[in-house]
Amino acid sequence: MPLAVITGANRGLGLETAQVLAERGYRVWLTGRDPELTERAAAALRAQHLDVQGSYLDVTSAVGVGALAQRLAAEPPIDALINNAGASFSGLDPKVARDTLEINYRGAVRVTDALAPRLASTANIVMVSSGMGTLSHFSSTLAERLLNADLARADIESAAEEFLSAVSLGQAAAKGFPNNAYSVSKALMNAFTRVLARELGRSTQRVNAVCPGWVKTRMGGDGAPRSLAQGASGIVWAATLGPGGASGGFFRDAKPIAW
Ligand SMILES: NC(=O)c1ccc[n+]([C@@H]2O[C@H](COP(=O)([O-])OP(=O)(O)OC[C@H]3O[C@@H](n4cnc5c(N)ncnc54)[C@H](OP(=O)(O)O)[C@@H]3O)[C@@H](O)[C@H]2O)c1
Repeated sequence: MPLAVITGANRGLGLETAQVLAERGYRVWLTGRDPELTERAAAALRAQHLDVQGSYLDVTSAVGVGALAQRLAAEPPIDALINNAGASFSGLDPKVARDTLEINYRGAVRVTDALAPRLASTANIVMVSSGMGTLSHFSSTLAERLLNADLARADIESAAEEFLSAVSLGQAAAKGFPNNAYSVSKALMNAFTRVLARELGRSTQRVNAVCPGWVKTRMGGDGAPRSLAQGASGIVWAATLGPGGASGGFFRDAKPIAW
Protein backbone atom coordinates (compact mmCIF):
# COMPACT_ATOMS: atom_id res chain seq x y z
CA MET A 1 0.00 0.00 0.00
CA PRO A 2 1.58 3.35 -1.02
CA LEU A 3 2.19 5.92 1.71
CA ALA A 4 1.43 9.66 1.51
CA VAL A 5 2.38 12.38 4.00
CA ILE A 6 0.52 15.71 3.82
CA THR A 7 1.21 18.87 5.82
CA GLY A 8 -1.51 21.29 6.95
CA ALA A 9 -4.12 18.63 6.29
CA ASN A 10 -6.63 19.18 9.10
CA ARG A 11 -8.82 21.23 6.72
CA GLY A 12 -9.05 22.76 3.25
CA LEU A 13 -7.03 21.44 0.33
CA GLY A 14 -4.80 19.29 2.52
CA LEU A 15 -7.76 17.42 3.98
CA GLU A 16 -9.39 17.01 0.56
CA THR A 17 -6.12 15.65 -0.87
CA ALA A 18 -5.86 13.24 2.07
CA GLN A 19 -9.36 11.96 1.40
CA VAL A 20 -8.82 11.47 -2.35
CA LEU A 21 -5.47 9.71 -1.92
CA ALA A 22 -6.88 7.47 0.82
CA GLU A 23 -9.82 6.58 -1.44
CA ARG A 24 -7.26 5.64 -4.10
CA GLY A 25 -5.70 3.13 -1.74
CA TYR A 26 -2.95 5.19 -0.10
CA ARG A 27 -2.17 4.98 3.58
CA VAL A 28 -2.16 8.67 4.54
CA TRP A 29 -0.33 10.47 7.31
CA LEU A 30 -2.51 13.51 7.79
CA THR A 31 -0.46 16.08 9.70
CA GLY A 32 -1.48 19.36 11.28
CA ARG A 33 -0.29 21.82 13.90
CA ASP A 34 -3.35 21.54 16.15
CA PRO A 35 -3.25 18.01 17.62
CA GLU A 36 -6.97 17.92 18.44
CA LEU A 37 -8.17 19.20 15.03
CA THR A 38 -5.71 16.91 13.29
CA GLU A 39 -6.87 13.81 15.15
CA ARG A 40 -10.51 14.79 14.58
CA ALA A 41 -9.91 15.10 10.81
CA ALA A 42 -8.07 11.77 10.70
CA ALA A 43 -10.81 10.05 12.73
CA ALA A 44 -13.48 11.36 10.33
CA LEU A 45 -11.66 9.71 7.42
CA ARG A 46 -11.08 6.49 9.37
CA ALA A 47 -14.84 6.40 10.00
CA GLN A 48 -15.14 6.06 6.19
CA HIS A 49 -12.88 2.97 6.42
CA LEU A 50 -9.91 4.88 5.02
CA ASP A 51 -6.37 4.19 6.24
CA VAL A 52 -5.46 7.53 7.80
CA GLN A 53 -3.07 8.32 10.63
CA GLY A 54 -3.25 11.75 12.28
CA SER A 55 0.04 13.25 13.41
CA TYR A 56 1.07 16.55 14.97
CA LEU A 57 3.27 18.77 12.84
CA ASP A 58 3.97 22.49 12.96
CA VAL A 59 6.17 23.04 9.90
CA THR A 60 7.94 25.95 11.61
CA SER A 61 9.32 23.66 14.31
CA ALA A 62 12.58 21.90 13.48
CA VAL A 63 12.10 19.73 16.57
CA GLY A 64 8.56 18.81 15.51
CA VAL A 65 9.67 18.00 11.97
CA GLY A 66 12.49 15.81 13.32
CA ALA A 67 10.03 14.01 15.60
CA LEU A 68 7.74 13.30 12.65
CA ALA A 69 10.67 11.83 10.70
CA GLN A 70 11.36 9.53 13.65
CA ARG A 71 7.73 8.44 13.93
CA LEU A 72 7.75 7.66 10.20
CA ALA A 73 10.76 5.39 10.62
CA ALA A 74 8.36 2.58 11.56
CA GLU A 75 6.51 2.97 8.23
CA PRO A 76 7.50 1.86 4.73
CA PRO A 77 9.11 4.55 2.52
CA ILE A 78 6.98 7.57 1.59
CA ASP A 79 5.60 7.53 -1.96
CA ALA A 80 4.09 11.04 -1.91
CA LEU A 81 5.14 14.03 0.21
CA ILE A 82 2.76 16.96 -0.13
CA ASN A 83 3.96 20.28 1.27
CA ASN A 84 0.54 21.88 1.59
CA ALA A 85 0.69 23.83 4.87
CA GLY A 86 0.33 27.52 4.12
CA ALA A 87 -0.75 30.82 5.57
CA SER A 88 -1.63 34.25 4.25
CA PHE A 89 -1.71 37.23 6.61
CA SER A 90 -3.10 40.66 5.87
CA GLY A 91 -0.80 43.66 5.57
CA LEU A 92 2.96 43.73 5.26
CA ASP A 93 5.30 44.34 8.18
CA PRO A 94 8.44 42.57 9.41
CA LYS A 95 6.47 40.02 11.49
CA VAL A 96 4.05 39.20 8.67
CA ALA A 97 6.96 38.83 6.25
CA ARG A 98 8.98 36.57 8.57
CA ASP A 99 6.02 34.40 9.63
CA THR A 100 4.86 33.94 6.02
CA LEU A 101 8.29 32.90 4.75
CA GLU A 102 8.80 30.66 7.79
CA ILE A 103 5.63 28.67 7.06
CA ASN A 104 5.22 28.75 3.29
CA TYR A 105 8.81 28.59 2.06
CA ARG A 106 11.15 27.51 4.89
CA GLY A 107 8.54 25.08 6.25
CA ALA A 108 8.48 23.23 2.93
CA VAL A 109 12.29 23.11 2.81
CA ARG A 110 12.48 21.92 6.44
CA VAL A 111 9.93 19.11 5.97
CA THR A 112 11.36 17.98 2.62
CA ASP A 113 14.92 17.81 3.95
CA ALA A 114 13.93 16.01 7.17
CA LEU A 115 11.86 13.41 5.34
CA ALA A 116 14.26 12.96 2.39
CA PRO A 117 15.85 9.84 3.92
CA ARG A 118 12.36 8.34 4.31
CA LEU A 119 11.31 8.88 0.66
CA ALA A 120 10.82 5.96 -1.70
CA SER A 121 13.17 5.84 -4.70
CA THR A 122 10.23 6.75 -6.95
CA ALA A 123 8.60 9.30 -4.60
CA ASN A 124 6.68 12.36 -5.76
CA ILE A 125 7.26 15.58 -3.82
CA VAL A 126 4.57 18.21 -4.32
CA MET A 127 4.89 21.88 -3.39
CA VAL A 128 1.42 23.41 -3.08
CA SER A 129 2.22 26.82 -4.49
CA SER A 130 0.17 29.62 -6.01
CA GLY A 131 -0.13 31.72 -9.15
CA MET A 132 0.47 34.62 -6.72
CA GLY A 133 4.09 33.46 -6.66
CA THR A 134 4.74 34.03 -10.36
CA LEU A 135 7.81 36.09 -11.14
CA SER A 136 5.80 38.62 -13.17
CA HIS A 137 5.22 40.28 -9.77
CA PHE A 138 8.98 40.86 -9.34
CA SER A 139 11.43 43.27 -10.98
CA SER A 140 13.07 41.78 -14.07
CA THR A 141 16.44 41.78 -12.27
CA LEU A 142 15.11 39.71 -9.37
CA ALA A 143 13.16 37.43 -11.70
CA GLU A 144 16.30 36.77 -13.77
CA ARG A 145 18.28 36.02 -10.62
CA LEU A 146 15.72 33.51 -9.36
CA LEU A 147 15.42 31.86 -12.78
CA ASN A 148 19.20 31.44 -13.15
CA ALA A 149 19.89 27.84 -14.20
CA ASP A 150 22.71 27.67 -11.62
CA LEU A 151 20.53 28.92 -8.76
CA ALA A 152 21.56 27.36 -5.42
CA ARG A 153 19.77 27.05 -2.10
CA ALA A 154 21.97 29.82 -0.67
CA ASP A 155 20.81 32.18 -3.44
CA ILE A 156 17.17 31.58 -2.48
CA GLU A 157 18.00 32.24 1.17
CA SER A 158 19.79 35.47 0.17
CA ALA A 159 16.68 36.61 -1.68
CA ALA A 160 14.57 35.74 1.38
CA GLU A 161 16.84 37.76 3.68
CA GLU A 162 16.89 40.67 1.21
CA PHE A 163 13.10 40.71 1.22
CA LEU A 164 12.94 40.64 5.04
CA SER A 165 15.44 43.45 5.28
CA ALA A 166 13.63 45.49 2.58
CA VAL A 167 10.33 45.08 4.46
CA SER A 168 11.89 46.26 7.71
CA LEU A 169 13.07 49.40 5.84
CA GLY A 170 9.70 49.86 4.12
CA GLN A 171 11.41 49.32 0.74
CA ALA A 172 10.01 46.01 -0.58
CA ALA A 173 8.69 47.52 -3.83
CA ALA A 174 11.74 49.76 -4.26
CA LYS A 175 13.95 46.66 -4.10
CA GLY A 176 11.89 44.89 -6.79
CA PHE A 177 9.70 42.66 -4.60
CA PRO A 178 5.91 42.53 -4.65
CA ASN A 179 4.35 44.27 -1.64
CA ASN A 180 3.00 40.92 -0.54
CA ALA A 181 4.80 38.36 1.61
CA TYR A 182 2.57 35.52 0.40
CA SER A 183 3.65 36.13 -3.24
CA VAL A 184 7.31 36.21 -2.22
CA SER A 185 6.99 33.04 -0.12
CA LYS A 186 5.46 31.09 -3.02
CA ALA A 187 8.03 32.43 -5.51
CA LEU A 188 10.78 31.19 -3.16
CA MET A 189 9.00 27.84 -2.79
CA ASN A 190 8.95 27.63 -6.60
CA ALA A 191 12.66 28.47 -6.74
CA PHE A 192 13.29 25.67 -4.21
CA THR A 193 11.30 23.31 -6.46
CA ARG A 194 13.64 24.08 -9.38
CA VAL A 195 16.79 23.69 -7.27
CA LEU A 196 15.57 20.44 -5.71
CA ALA A 197 14.66 19.02 -9.13
CA ARG A 198 18.23 19.72 -10.22
CA GLU A 199 19.58 18.11 -7.02
CA LEU A 200 17.47 15.02 -7.68
CA GLY A 201 19.12 14.91 -11.12
CA ARG A 202 18.68 11.59 -12.78
CA SER A 203 17.10 9.97 -9.74
CA THR A 204 13.62 8.55 -10.16
CA GLN A 205 12.18 10.91 -7.53
CA ARG A 206 10.15 13.85 -8.85
CA VAL A 207 9.32 17.29 -7.45
CA ASN A 208 6.78 19.72 -8.86
CA ALA A 209 5.02 22.89 -7.78
CA VAL A 210 1.25 23.01 -8.19
CA CYS A 211 -1.15 25.95 -8.18
CA PRO A 212 -4.60 24.72 -7.15
CA GLY A 213 -6.32 27.81 -8.58
CA TRP A 214 -8.55 30.03 -6.45
CA VAL A 215 -10.40 27.58 -4.20
CA LYS A 216 -13.15 27.92 -1.59
CA THR A 217 -11.28 27.30 1.66
CA ARG A 218 -10.70 29.38 4.78
CA MET A 219 -7.78 30.97 2.92
CA GLY A 220 -9.51 31.30 -0.47
CA GLY A 221 -12.79 32.58 0.98
CA ASP A 222 -16.40 31.94 -0.03
CA GLY A 223 -16.10 34.01 -3.22
CA ALA A 224 -13.58 31.63 -4.78
CA PRO A 225 -14.83 29.99 -7.98
CA ARG A 226 -13.27 26.54 -7.52
CA SER A 227 -14.41 23.67 -5.35
CA LEU A 228 -12.12 21.69 -3.07
CA ALA A 229 -12.32 18.76 -5.49
CA GLN A 230 -11.24 20.96 -8.42
CA GLY A 231 -8.38 22.45 -6.42
CA ALA A 232 -7.12 19.14 -5.09
CA SER A 233 -7.19 17.31 -8.43
CA GLY A 234 -3.93 18.91 -9.67
CA ILE A 235 -2.25 18.17 -6.34
CA VAL A 236 -3.33 14.51 -6.54
CA TRP A 237 -2.12 14.36 -10.15
CA ALA A 238 1.37 15.53 -9.14
CA ALA A 239 1.39 13.23 -6.09
CA THR A 240 0.65 10.14 -8.18
CA LEU A 241 2.91 10.62 -11.22
CA GLY A 242 4.55 7.44 -12.42
CA PRO A 243 7.88 6.62 -14.10
CA GLY A 244 8.82 9.22 -16.70
CA GLY A 245 6.45 11.78 -15.15
CA ALA A 246 7.32 15.47 -15.08
CA SER A 247 9.79 16.92 -12.59
CA GLY A 248 10.90 20.48 -11.90
CA GLY A 249 7.73 22.05 -13.31
CA PHE A 250 4.93 24.35 -12.21
CA PHE A 251 1.42 23.11 -13.00
CA ARG A 252 -2.23 24.04 -12.72
CA ASP A 253 -4.78 21.34 -13.56
CA ALA A 254 -1.90 19.13 -14.73
CA LYS A 255 -0.85 21.70 -17.36
CA PRO A 256 2.44 23.62 -17.21
CA ILE A 257 2.23 27.30 -16.26
CA ALA A 258 4.86 30.05 -16.29
CA TRP A 259 7.10 30.54 -13.25
N1 LIG B 1 -7.42 28.38 -1.41
C1 LIG B 1 -6.83 28.95 -2.44
O1 LIG B 1 -7.45 29.66 -3.25
C2 LIG B 1 -5.37 28.70 -2.68
C3 LIG B 1 -4.80 29.20 -3.87
C4 LIG B 1 -3.46 28.97 -4.13
C5 LIG B 1 -2.69 28.24 -3.23
N2 LIG B 1 -3.26 27.78 -2.07
C6 LIG B 1 -2.40 27.02 -1.16
O2 LIG B 1 -3.02 25.82 -0.79
C7 LIG B 1 -2.52 25.38 0.49
C8 LIG B 1 -3.71 25.00 1.38
O3 LIG B 1 -4.47 26.16 1.62
P1 LIG B 1 -6.04 26.14 1.84
O4 LIG B 1 -6.62 26.98 0.78
O5 LIG B 1 -6.51 24.76 2.04
O6 LIG B 1 -6.12 27.01 3.16
P2 LIG B 1 -6.60 26.69 4.66
O7 LIG B 1 -7.94 26.06 4.67
O8 LIG B 1 -6.39 27.97 5.35
O9 LIG B 1 -5.57 25.60 5.16
C9 LIG B 1 -4.24 25.92 5.47
C10 LIG B 1 -3.69 24.77 6.26
O10 LIG B 1 -2.31 25.05 6.56
C11 LIG B 1 -2.14 24.81 7.94
N3 LIG B 1 -1.02 25.52 8.52
C12 LIG B 1 -0.82 26.86 8.62
N4 LIG B 1 0.31 27.10 9.28
C13 LIG B 1 0.85 25.90 9.60
C14 LIG B 1 2.03 25.48 10.27
N5 LIG B 1 2.89 26.36 10.80
N6 LIG B 1 2.26 24.15 10.41
C15 LIG B 1 1.41 23.24 9.90
N7 LIG B 1 0.27 23.57 9.28
C16 LIG B 1 0.01 24.89 9.12
C17 LIG B 1 -3.46 25.21 8.57
O11 LIG B 1 -3.53 24.69 9.88
P3 LIG B 1 -4.40 25.41 11.06
O12 LIG B 1 -5.78 24.84 10.94
O13 LIG B 1 -3.69 24.98 12.30
O14 LIG B 1 -4.34 26.89 10.81
C18 LIG B 1 -4.41 24.55 7.59
O15 LIG B 1 -4.51 23.18 7.84
C19 LIG B 1 -1.71 26.54 1.03
O16 LIG B 1 -0.34 26.30 0.85
C20 LIG B 1 -2.14 27.72 0.18
O17 LIG B 1 -1.15 28.70 0.08
C21 LIG B 1 -4.58 27.99 -1.78
